[in-house]
Amino acid sequence: MTSDAHTPVMLTQVLDGLRLRADGTYLDGTFGRGGHARAVLKRLGASGRLLLMDRDPQAVTAARGEFGGDARVAIRHGSFADLTDWDEMAAGLDGVLLDLGVSSPQLDDAARGFSFRADAPLDMRMDPTSGESAAEFLARADESEIADVLWKFGEERMGRRIARAIVERRSEAPLARTGELAELIAHVVGRPPSGKHPATRSFQALRIAVNGELDALEKGLHGALERLKSGGRLAVISFHSLEDRAVKQFLRAQSQPPATRRGLPPPASFTPRMKLLGPALFPQADELEVNPRARSAVLRVAEKL
Ligand SMILES: C[S@@+](CC[C@H](N)C(=O)[O-])C[C@H]1O[C@@H](n2cnc3c(N)ncnc32)[C@H](O)[C@@H]1O
Repeated sequence: MTSDAHTPVMLTQVLDGLRLRADGTYLDGTFGRGGHARAVLKRLGASGRLLLMDRDPQAVTAARGEFGGDARVAIRHGSFADLTDWDEMAAGLDGVLLDLGVSSPQLDDAARGFSFRADAPLDMRMDPTSGESAAEFLARADESEIADVLWKFGEERMGRRIARAIVERRSEAPLARTGELAELIAHVVGRPPSGKHPATRSFQALRIAVNGELDALEKGLHGALERLKSGGRLAVISFHSLEDRAVKQFLRAQSQPPATRRGLPPPASFTPRMKLLGPALFPQADELEVNPRARSAVLRVAEKL
């Protein structure tokens, strides 16, 4: 099914976490289809500002179509990794939302190549106008680089064997389609006991690598911290453990002195730049009932000091 909607995840918790002010300036760095942005905008008054970014041109077209005429809204095509380059941010932000990963339209449109469930060109770029597609990566990278990606970004234990099978296959013909890759992986991996599709981990890993997702996250978190005003809030929703670990470590490093070895004095000077607002939050059972795609979501909220 192809849909052009995206159900916003943990919407109430995000709105509470951002503690919106009607005259505030907010950045939604991952517009998607505007599920969160629409709700934020409803709470802004005439002097509020909502800045929208997405690296996917289709998301940006959707944003312009729906919000382009609203004087409170500015829209930019690009990665939140580069958010500090946008001059709209110069006056500072009262809140930043990053709702990571892919949107429902990206997953559901087979032609984008994100899904192992439908046969399509092996692309996986959130921004198809730049960078290398998954097919190009698998054609170029050597066996050890492919294996490293599968292990690092997918925690795929069979990464080395899958990489070897990919390199053998491409010596006959390039791997160009999601269906071929999913089948090849299933052949190597067999049926995992989890009952998940055997290509789940590898597809996640390739997507993260092709889109440089963890580097973008690291840069985006630092950029958000730079642009937030004192008292401004950062809310980040992640969907897998690698993302959440990066968010957790960033927030910890900004809010707590580094751990010291037992017996050693604490570092002479540590000035926290952020305050954590409570523990990680998870979707409630009623949300999961209506939106199973929320199941792996983790929300962390912090305030700039
Ligand atoms: C989970 S969806 C966001 C859904 C959105 N909150 C909504 O309710 O409709 C993630 C979106 O973030 C975008 N995205 C992922 N990484 C990005 C990055 N580094 N910079 C900008 N957009 C990014 C994807 O293209 C996708 O549209």
